[in-house]
Amino acid sequence: MKEKILHLLKENEKNFISGQGISENLGVSRTAIWKYINVLKEDGYEIESVSKKGYRLISSPDLLSFEELSENLHTKYIGKNIMYFQTIDSTNNKAKELALDGYPNGTIIISEEQTLGRGRLGRNFVSPKHKGIWLSIILRPDINPMNVPKVTQIGAAAVIKTLDELDIKAHVKWPNDIVLNNKKICGILTEMSGELNKVNYVVMGIGINVNIDVEELPKELRDTATSISYEVGRYIKEKSLSVIY
Ligand code: BTN
Repeated sequence: MKEKILHLLKENEKNFISGQGISENLGVSRTAIWKYINVLKEDGYEIESVSKKGYRLISSPDLLSFEELSENLHTKYIGKNIMYFQTIDSTNNKAKELALDGYPNGTIIISEEQTLGRGRLGRNFVSPKHKGIWLSIILRPDINPMNVPKVTQIGAAAVIKTLDELDIKAHVKWPNDIVLNNKKICGILTEMSGELNKVNYVVMGIGINVNIDVEELPKELRDTATSISYEVGRYIKEKSLSVIY
């Protein structure tokens, strides 16, 4: 219901929509609507409430939820289904679990924070809250398992293209890293399950250091890793990176 109310507020952005109007549209009481509006405010939505006029959405927070990302997504199947978490151990772990449960091609698992983010070769991947994009995509490509590494390259190209839209010129450091000013800002961890000539599923995990302070990175990485905001000298809205190609 919270999502439906948010949808109505977004549809009528800048205009008031009455409690009565929402109530009739969604078939819930005005008290219930008031409660959901308060929950949305706690989530960071700025909503003006004026008696006899109703509610008006003033601004939306920089969250990576379906509601915030979907308006920028013009994809065929990636992100049609987004599972959003405030915190999770690792989006790759969750994606593998859901892939085994039969979740469809293109499902995205995204979290504001990972407590056990994983990198390649069993390394830890620091993923602090609201400081980056930590996501995994479940893919079910009909390709030979030998070609799965190419999927990683397509993912890397999508990240580069997205950054380019923001005038940020990053490069692929083959095979799995993306660098800005020669320092790593993004890593990709692709995992798959398959047979000799059949892919069951691919999980592509992408971690982008968007607004991490360099001090938050492990000491041993500070010479080789960085964040986009540190390099460009300004805060980057994380949801502005949701233009997935
Ligand atoms: C690397 O640099 O070695 C790859 C890092 C991949 C990190 C991403 S963040 C989202 C997804 N979940 C994980 O636990 N890892 C990947």
